[in-house]
Amino acid sequence: MTQPKLKSSIAILGCGDVGSTLAYTLIMQPICSEVIMVDLKKELLEAQVRDLSDSTYGGRSGVKVRAGTHKDAGQADIVVITAGAKQKHGESRLSLLSRNLHILESIFSSMAPISPHTILLLVANPVDILTYFARKLSGLPESQVLGTGTSLDSARLRGILAEKAEVAPSSIDAYVLGEHGDSQFIVWSSATIGTTPLHLALPGKLTPEFKASISAHTRGAAGAIIAAKGCTSYGIGNIAASICKYILFDSRSVRPISFYQPELGCCLSMPAVVGRKGIIKSMPVLLDETERAELEKCASGLRGVIEGAEK
Ligand code: 2OP
Repeated sequence: MTQPKLKSSIAILGCGDVGSTLAYTLIMQPICSEVIMVDLKKELLEAQVRDLSDSTYGGRSGVKVRAGTHKDAGQADIVVITAGAKQKHGESRLSLLSRNLHILESIFSSMAPISPHTILLLVANPVDILTYFARKLSGLPESQVLGTGTSLDSARLRGILAEKAEVAPSSIDAYVLGEHGDSQFIVWSSATIGTTPLHLALPGKLTPEFKASISAHTRGAAGAIIAAKGCTSYGIGNIAASICKYILFDSRSVRPISFYQPELGCCLSMPAVVGRKGIIKSMPVLLDETERAELEKCASGLRGVIEGAEK
């Protein structure tokens, strides 16, 4: 794993719950040498920068945190876009599209010209649709425009399966693919615990009812948290920080990432190798008939939303 360049900067657009949690995670690990915070709410921006900076003076992290402009962000190594309206209790991620697409358009006009080497990481929802439009608005190569996608859903899946199998989540290799939303699907056919296929690791357990309950848990996890605390932040903040680390350290980790799928005509999550140049390559995934049908249904739904937004 190559070490990060001497100076590596990550710009975070949006200083709310997710953006500030991500910033704090980047500082504490540490993953980069500079975090640039950007937000239109100047008072919030200054307060977040002051508060985050206070966490860097203890000597544990040499990360510099500063307030910046969209123009500054456009020259950073990575730009993480968390800015946008967030789901309210009972609201779907897709219902945020018109508001957040408008915000995305103003972000790119303020950032231009973006450095040709910048990697974009979309976090705001609906992340798959915003990743699709960020490709177009930024003019960057598809491999440099990523969305957190179903990385968080896959982490949630590992958590619940680890509980059922009484093993460490890190020993579970299971993916949620497709939309970071209601049409996501679990790739049961290739899920393993260590080298053991899931159906052998959980003998007799993988009934349709079991699979349905696990899918419901993973799909509904965000909604349950939002109902109680108004947002999610720690799970998505950690996922975004991990993806930043894969990029800056050129770790070539394989993760479910949302990026443009030419044969499907949309952005959705598929397994990809993530490194310093963003998506290094996509990893072929074996899907059974049911999973292939779920992928097609997911892509068709996302294309419909894109077509509606482009009208
Ligand atoms: C999540 O799944 C809200 O998309 C965010 O936590």
